Amino acid sequence: MKRIVLTGYMGTGKSSVGRRLAQRLRYRFVDLDEEVKTDAGLSISDIFAQFGEPHFRRLESAALHKVCSGERLVIATGGGAVIDEENRKLIRQDALVVNLTADAREILARLADENVRPLLKNGKSIDSIQTMLDAREAFYADADVRINTTGKSVEEITETVIAILKEQQGSIV
Ligand code: S3P
Repeated sequence: MKRIVLTGYMGTGKSSVGRRLAQRLRYRFVDLDEEVKTDAGLSISDIFAQFGEPHFRRLESAALHKVCSGERLVIATGGGAVIDEENRKLIRQDALVVNLTADAREILARLADENVRPLLKNGKSIDSIQTMLDAREAFYADADVRINTTGKSVEEITETVIAILKEQQGSIV
């Protein structure tokens, strides 16, 4: 197993947990959205606004191809990266796929004060978040483990992942 890939909806803690997990494992942390931004030289909001979501998805797939050739990586994917079947195949290769979940209510609270996520710019509500969670459920469920992060700290979630890794692969940590 070469990589740990974190999947999940926006606000489930992929980037914060990924960064901490990478530190703990002495792996490199890669944030897929950051890769896309660097490659495009634009913010995610600007990519959506100027070129539309399909273009963003192409850039996201290209970035995923690039990072999925690396080893000793913890990768935080964007919330929609798992929708594409080819992306899901790539994510699963030589990797432990950890899906982070959270209740819609908690996601709303975590994302209440931010405005960098184009898919939530037209008003955030528990209902709209729940609708997207339901629509994506099958894609998020395509993981080796799922961790409900509701009410948990980054540290607690990181320790949960490490415990799972120890159980599954005595050698990784
Ligand atoms: C998206 C999630 C975002 C980002 C883009 C689209 C999605 O990433 O990739 O705004 O479709 O859920 P985060 O999950 O890191 O916020």
